[in-house]
Parts: sequence; C-alpha cells; structure tokens
Amino acid sequence: MQIDTELLGSLDELDGVQLQKAIAQLADRVQEEAGKTTTPEEEQKFLSDLFDGERGLFWRLYSKVLAKSGRVTWADYGIRQFLRAPVERFLELGMLEGDPKNRFHSLQRYMDTLIGSTTDVEKFTIARALWESRSEGVKTAIGEYWLKNAKPHLKPAIGRYYNDLAKHLEDALKQRYAAIESGVEAVALVRERVDLSLPGVIRPTGSRHLIRQVFQEIEDIFFSIGFSIVEGPEIETPYYNFEALNIPEFHPVRDDMDTFYLELPKGAKTPLLLRTHTSPMQIRTMERQKPPVRVIVPGKVYRRDNPDATHSFAFHQIEGLAVDTDITFCDFTGTIEYFVKQFFGPGVKTRFRPSYFPFTEPSVEFDVSCPFCAGTGTATGGGTCSKCKGAAWIELFGAGMVDPAVYGFVNYDAKKVSGFAFGIGIDRLAMLKYGIDDIQVFFQNDVRFLRQFP
Ligand code: DAH
Repeated sequence: MQIDTELLGSLDELDGVQLQKAIAQLADRVQEEAGKTTTPEEEQKFLSDLFDGERGLFWRLYSKVLAKSGRVTWADYGIRQFLRAPVERFLELGMLEGDPKNRFHSLQRYMDTLIGSTTDVEKFTIARALWESRSEGVKTAIGEYWLKNAKPHLKPAIGRYYNDLAKHLEDALKQRYAAIESGVEAVALVRERVDLSLPGVIRPTGSRHLIRQVFQEIEDIFFSIGFSIVEGPEIETPYYNFEALNIPEFHPVRDDMDTFYLELPKGAKTPLLLRTHTSPMQIRTMERQKPPVRVIVPGKVYRRDNPDATHSFAFHQIEGLAVDTDITFCDFTGTIEYFVKQFFGPGVKTRFRPSYFPFTEPSVEFDVSCPFCAGTGTATGGGTCSKCKGAAWIELFGAGMVDPAVYGFVNYDAKKVSGFAFGIGIDRLAMLKYGIDDIQVFFQNDVRFLRQFP
C-alpha cells in the first residue's frame, strides 16, 4: 500500500487530537485502496498490509496512539474512522445491485483478518467494537442501511448472508478472546512458574519461649480438671488491684507491692497502675459470672523491684480461682496436690504452712518436697542439695480459701458460697524445674539461651 514511511514519521510530531485527525484522513486513502482490490490476491495483499503483525499499517498507527496517550480505545476518533473505511467500501451502502455474496465475503475476510491479528485484550476490544458498536459498528450498519434499503427481491438472500456473517464473526470473536485469555495465562504461568528444583529459602523456625511453655504446661493441667482460662488487662485500677481484694488504702501489704502508677492527664477519673498480681481477675471474673467459677488466669505482672537473680520489674503469674456452693478445704488441698504432682512428678509430697493474704482466710503457703534431692536435702553425689539449699522443701506459692469479705465486693452471698484461690509465680517455677539460676535470662532473649528449650 502506498502510504510511505515518511508520512508515518511525520505523525510523531502531532499531539493527541491532531494525531486522530491525521489517522482519519488516512482512512480515505485506505478506502480508496480497498476499492482497487479486484482479485483475491490483491485483496489478500491489502489485508496483510493493514493487519500483518508489527508492520501492518493499522497496528503501526495503533502503536503511535498508544505511545502518545497510553491507551487506545474505540472512542478514538481516527482509529474508528480508519477501521470503518474499508467496510463502507465493501458495503457501498444502499447501492446494492445483484447478488451481494462476494461483498459479504470480502467483509468477512476483512473482519477475520482484523480479529485474528489482535494479540491482547485492548486490541481485541477494538475489533469487537467494530462489529458490535451500536451506533457505528458493522452489525448495525448492515441492518440499518443495507438490509433496509435493499431491493425487495434481494432481501431474503441478504438476510441470510447477514445471519451467517453474524454467526461466523461472533464465533470468531469468542475463539479469539479465549485464545488471548489463555495466552495471557500461559505467559503468566511461565513468568510465575515456581522452580521446585531450586533450593528454597530456609526460614529458621523459632520456638516458644520457656515461660510460654511453662504457662502451657500449667494451663493443660488445670484445663484437664475443668478449669477454663481467662486473661485480663495489665493496666488496672486500684479498685481491682487492691480494694476489691480486701486491701484498703493504707493497708500495710500495699507496701509489699511497690507499684507502677501511670502518669495520667489532670482530671482523670481514676488512677491507673500496672497490675502487681493477677488476682484482680478474681474480681473481674466473679463480677462477670455467677458461681460455679473455675478459672485460671495466666499473665504478666509488674512491680518496682530492682533487678537481681530472682527479681524483675515484670514477671509472670497464674491465678487460680474456684468458687461454688460446696467447696471445702479438702477440695483445695486435693487440687493443689494434683497440680504439683503433675508438674513435678508423682514422687513429690506437698505441705502447707499458715500464711497471710488479705483476700484469703485461712491463707497458706504451699511447699513441695524438693524434687531434685527427693526431699532429702542431700545432693546425689553427697553434699547439700543446691536447689533446696538442704531444706528438703521448696516454697512454691501462696493460696487460701477466699476471704468472705471478697464476696461482698462482687455480690456473692458469702453465706452460700465458698472457694479457694492461688497465685503461682511462673518464673520461679520455671527456674526450679529447668535449673535456671537467673531470672534475667527470661527477658534478655539471648537465642543461645532460648535454643536450649526448643
Ligand atoms: N496475689 C498474690 C501475690 O502476688 C499471690 C496470691 C496469694 C494469689 C494467695 C492468690 C492467693 O490467689 O490466694 O503475691
């Protein structure tokens, strides 16, 4: 086709609108060329000049528009005019004489070539619009102009050709679209293929922190005898942390728990503090539910302790609480004993000594016979046992029967209910069980330590 490269080159200087105009002008030339094709060979040449891959005139124009405006659509005036031009020539609207069979065939070859040369969805969409566009598509054009204006005796034949063409093109469009889609998929598959033969990225898997493991161990034991697990806030009000646990302001035990108070804006409703123990959850749990209550509460607690081998400003506890209408001191000791044997092994013995906590009455301190020297105080190789320092017993944790005064704070009837509570220091237990002599290693997160407890 005689449209020279120079002309194409000159299009580069135009802006978007001028470019569309220039393409529309080329459309006239193309229409002329279409009219000149008389033999099948000429027609073949004409079609491949227009649509053959990269060098096809239409696709070269398409690339120019794409480069200029980032996208090409049926709404581009020049593109539209250009594609319609040969069609108009094939149809010779309204001027039909004789059997239109050949015209339909030319039109079909033109559409087939265009559709077949689309390589992506954007290009395909334009080809489809040329056929389907309601106002300017070929389908409408045939119906509106050709069929309507045809001589009456030609109408049946034209109608038949029209239907055949429509069916043919709709199939062709469907097939082309599927091919493009699967092509896109195929390209994506290649690009995103996972090469299973490559060595993988080795991600080191961590393990649970020893404290978490001990929590889990204890939770499992209590869970197995009907306790449920609840958690509570680490920031508490003095009411829950102290008052409701029967520790009024100025009670001396508050001094045992040097407390972190939060700095709050002036006018804050209540002071806030980092809970010094998990016991506030006794109150929150009983406020929330009626007896029977059987819960344990694992969590972090905070005190203004100076760090040393056995103290840290943050540490871990598990609170326990059981309240019902018929809980006795025997249930209490039996439960604790069961737990201690599960945790340290069936060989250990337990004992309790009187103690004092404001929220239990009576209060006890539970001891376990030293699991490391079998309660003898003597190490296996002779000499004093380093774990119990020769005492044969190890102090475990505080506990007691819930003080009736506490029930008053949660609207339980102290005459009807009874129960027990305990507060286990997890860090101490973990140190004991796993032979760790410095609580600080729990918080330093040195992997050489953590790796010893996979
Ligand atoms: N809350 C106490 C503490 O942190 C421990 C404790 C003692 C909890 C006796 C209890 C209990 O539930 O009954 O020192």
